[in-house]
Amino acid sequence: MSTPFDIGPPRDERELEQFGKIASEAFVVAPERFRPYFDAAGRGNFRFVRRDGALVGGLAILPKGQWFGGQAVPMAGIAVVAVPPEHRAGGVATELLSAVLRELYDGGCSLSTLYPATVALYRRAGYELAGVSCEVTLTAKSIDLRDRTLAVRAATPDDEPQIRAVYRQAAARTAGNLDRSEFNWWRVREQRGEKTQAYVVCRGPTVEGYAYLLSQSVDMAHANLRVLDMAAVTPEAARRVLTLIADYRTIRDQVIFRSGPFDPLLMHLAEVPATAVGRTPWMTRIVHVPRALAARGYPAGVAAELHLDVRDEVLAENNGRWVLHVADGHGEVHPGGRGTLAVHVRGLAALYTGFLTPAELVLAGLASGPAPDLAAAAAPFAGPTPWMRDAF
Ligand SMILES: CC(C)(COP(=O)(O)OP(=O)(O)OC[C@H]1O[C@@H](n2cnc3c(N)ncnc32)[C@H](O)[C@@H]1OP(=O)(O)O)[C@@H](O)C(=O)NCCC(=O)NCCS
Repeated sequence: MSTPFDIGPPRDERELEQFGKIASEAFVVAPERFRPYFDAAGRGNFRFVRRDGALVGGLAILPKGQWFGGQAVPMAGIAVVAVPPEHRAGGVATELLSAVLRELYDGGCSLSTLYPATVALYRRAGYELAGVSCEVTLTAKSIDLRDRTLAVRAATPDDEPQIRAVYRQAAARTAGNLDRSEFNWWRVREQRGEKTQAYVVCRGPTVEGYAYLLSQSVDMAHANLRVLDMAAVTPEAARRVLTLIADYRTIRDQVIFRSGPFDPLLMHLAEVPATAVGRTPWMTRIVHVPRALAARGYPAGVAAELHLDVRDEVLAENNGRWVLHVADGHGEVHPGGRGTLAVHVRGLAALYTGFLTPAELVLAGLASGPAPDLAAAAAPFAGPTPWMRDAF
């Protein structure tokens, strides 16, 4: 009989180094590249699995938030899930995820989100597909804007508070954008050891937009421009950010950025550019049903009372009946009620982010109930398509 798994934070530097090698092999990344990643993620945020004295897997928990309905909901990002090949398919990752979810539940977390390399593993832990991150590629020459009304200059460290305020204002209007942690800002400033160049768009002393750019050479004659982040809070700033990017068009072929299925910034172009779009889905887990439902915002003017009956095989406390009252942009949750809308916790995640409608959940086998109850559940969660620019 095999001994139980021992799961917890790193015991020492040696164990972290060992996990660096496991992650390096799993993700085909040089081990030295993990050192700055570990520092930025915070060494205490890793959880390792040991069995019979051997390190057999691990992951990182990256605390941050995610915007839904104008509120930043506390969220634990999960990253670098890795098990060495000789220990795979033995339940290591499944055990690790359920221990981490228990820890998150007990620690007051509402949500958890991750980018899955395999969906089945995370579904088993209660995560569901809940949004997308699209990698958009278009030619620099196809950005047909030449609007220099607002000033552009290279950003200085003093601009950082205003840049973050612009990001926050733009992200709060979306569904799914991150309420970034220092770790996420580090990933914007630096991509695989290369520093990005930040520019700000200003109206007088006020920053209204910005872009973090990184040039990447393709071969001797060609280079692309990667936009690690960009945001604008006025139409003029949006046009100036795009003009700044277009001004690279002589010696940059492709402009590449992560976005939603359609970036509203591109509404400023006169023509629809030919774009290649690669879609990466992300998955969300409702860690604590009442906390998560109360933490997000809801559309102003929507009033609803939903009688949920939630099923959760991993976090038993989420099971059962909950009433969600929505009014004035807020949600209140109480146990009990009629439980007329049966929903799996995975389905609740896809509904929560606005990724699937109640009718789509029924089709996916994740919800059931009388037609009026399903219809009532649509309006509170309706909103923009959930998306995210950040990779983590
Ligand atoms: C994915 C990974 C973490 C799973 O770890 P594990 O301990 O083997 O997982 P478990 O034994 O708990 O569960 C196995 C489940 O993982 C999924 N899985 C494992 N290997 C897989 C593969 N090669 N392709 C697709 N799914 C896979 C399956 O759902 C599998 O369930 P099943 O055996 O019932 O079909 C491990 O294979 C790994 O480290 N892979 C390389 C790195 C990676 O892809 N990490 C995930 C980043 S999001």
